[in-house]
Amino acid sequence: MKRIFSGIQPSGIIHIGNYLGAIKQWVELQNNPPALGADSIFCIVDLHAITEPQNPKELSKNILSIAAIYLAAGIDPKKSVIFVQSSRPEHTELAWILNCNAHMGELERMTQFKDKSAKFTKTSIPVGLFDYPVLMAADILLYKTTEVPVGEDQKQHVELTRDIAERFNHKYGQTFVIPKPIIKQTSARIMGLDDPTKKMSKSASSPNNYIAMTDNADIIRNKIKKAVTDSGTEIKADIKKPAITNLLNIYSEVSGKATADLEKQYSGKTYAQFKADLAEAIIEFLKPIQKKYSQILKDENNLKQILKVGSEKVAPIAQKTLKEVKEKVGLSVL
Ligand code: AMP
Ligand code: TRP
Repeated sequence: MKRIFSGIQPSGIIHIGNYLGAIKQWVELQNNPPALGADSIFCIVDLHAITEPQNPKELSKNILSIAAIYLAAGIDPKKSVIFVQSSRPEHTELAWILNCNAHMGELERMTQFKDKSAKFTKTSIPVGLFDYPVLMAADILLYKTTEVPVGEDQKQHVELTRDIAERFNHKYGQTFVIPKPIIKQTSARIMGLDDPTKKMSKSASSPNNYIAMTDNADIIRNKIKKAVTDSGTEIKADIKKPAITNLLNIYSEVSGKATADLEKQYSGKTYAQFKADLAEAIIEFLKPIQKKYSQILKDENNLKQILKVGSEKVAPIAQKTLKEVKEKVGLSVL
């Protein structure tokens, strides 16, 4: 049986990189073939968010806001499950057991850890930040997930999950399903608008790095106008033109037009014309999502109810796996 699991951290804004790299393919996977019951599980990974400092009030708001984005972007609670990670204690319990089967060396090698820990002095790096991938492995393995749709930056974490699962299975007997990452090549890595050599990121120092899913038309026009371009004038996807390639990629994703067709359409046109049209394409694309998003947020009780039902739906799966794991490890005497 196919089972899809993925998640996004409710840490700050959610941007079109998250949407194009992750959520867009979640919706496609949910619909083709149509998922049933708990085939597709989409989580708001709040316990991952607290591996870095969070304002408690903001965090609570962001959890609901990400849930609303999932729904507005097309995750259908009739076809998929949406729930909040911290509402299921099995995640942290399994993470502890996996901790005892994970190695310092493999966690030290994680690129995301190297990047994120650089913000702290060596002696004050939160242990949770180091352990982050093990909690992610628990999220995935708890549901016997077969497929994990994520952006390119999460590939290494899914590979670590596979290693931990294989190690556990080898030590204690067949328990976990070995999951595989699903990465959509065209949008696996949307780059920053202000620096096309780095990925678009929530934690970027300038808001000009990203288009937030909730940015209004004027902000979008302004950010695209300010987006860095490459030398020369040609509008062409080329390794030597990382900024234009990234903008073409975004344009193609939001408009559904092939990059080659866009190159033809803009041959002989200026960067300014291209950018003006790109901004309008993004605005049009986000309009229906933003409309649904604000409608969903108006009925907070309904949103909370969807998350509660989601948590109840995944409970038996999580409990069953955890029970099996505890038995295998010798932790179920009583
Ligand atoms: P995060 O913002 O780290 O919680 O990421 C949530 C999801 O969005 C993950 O699947 C990431 O791989 C994906 N993602 C984040 N940033 C980008 C980006 N710039 N391009 C494509 N996918 C991304
Ligand atoms: N680490 C992921 C990210 O930052 C979020 C995440 C947590 C996740 N648990 C997961 C993604 C399980 C896929 C599956 O993007």
